[in-house]
Amino acid sequence: MPEKTAFSENEKKNGGKAGDELIRLVDLAKIYDTGAIKVLGLNRINLTIRRGEFVAIMGHSGSGKSTLMNILGCLDRPTLGHYYLDGIDVADLTPNELSAIRNRKIGFVFQSFNLIARTTALKNVELPMTYARIPAGKRTKRAKELLECVGLGARLSHMPNEMSGGQRQRVAIARALANDPPLILADEPTGNLDTAASIEIMEMFSELHEAGATVVVVTHEDNIAAYTDRILRFSDGCMISDEKNLNPTKRGGKQHLSGLYGSLYRREEAGDAD
Ligand SMILES: Nc1ncnc2c1ncn2[C@@H]1O[C@H](COP(=O)(O)OP(=O)(O)O)[C@@H](O)[C@H]1O
Ligand SMILES: [Mg+2]
Repeated sequence: MPEKTAFSENEKKNGGKAGDELIRLVDLAKIYDTGAIKVLGLNRINLTIRRGEFVAIMGHSGSGKSTLMNILGCLDRPTLGHYYLDGIDVADLTPNELSAIRNRKIGFVFQSFNLIARTTALKNVELPMTYARIPAGKRTKRAKELLECVGLGARLSHMPNEMSGGQRQRVAIARALANDPPLILADEPTGNLDTAASIEIMEMFSELHEAGATVVVVTHEDNIAAYTDRILRFSDGCMISDEKNLNPTKRGGKQHLSGLYGSLYRREEAGDAD
């Protein structure tokens, strides 16, 4: 990692102490300049998300949810205002520093899975660890463990097109967890899934939240948002409400993800280089 890491030096298990501020947006705006017209994607967003929060982002199509997720995930930059990630203004980071942060600190899950076609489930999960220069033996072992945890231990060598939507999304979650990122961002992760698969996916996110991850999920559906502790609503690029969910959906997670999440870091800390 470059010197200017976007996460505190004192990060413990999965990136610091629960309750510390992880994300702060100040008067953040995104304007898409398409030449003839300018589209206001986000309009003066002010928002703080603390470590360990489980947040849903809701709003109609075109309200700015994906624009926000792309900025939070350092895939895009704000036009105006500031995005502080663990206290560091993302605008000050070089492209190399940003890609290092994306690789090590942020796990993405997308509606359309975004797995690499013609590549096995195992290789898809190994890929972020390859970029992070985790040695081959260690990354294969961990990719297998992650896939076992998400119930795909028997499908390590399957290609994405040989799996159901729910299975592909579980591969995508295993991949997102590969480098033990403190921040997990999911943009409509259940948008292409049936109810049973959606429940499985949300239980995994709940379990990761319980294990200390900060999880932000975009959804159209109230029953998906109901798993989270805080619901932000967007309309026309503006954040129009920010409410606590005092009675989140009961968490019956049984994937044992919590044992694995954070273990890459713990192993390194214990000096186990495998
Ligand atoms: N790459 C882009 N170029 C131009 N306009 C865009 C682009 N991406 C998004 N927009 C516009 O920004 C607004 C917010 O889009 P988006 O963040 O994708 O909404 P949501 O995810 O809530 O459906 C919409 O008006 C959309 O058309
Ligand atoms: Mg979207």
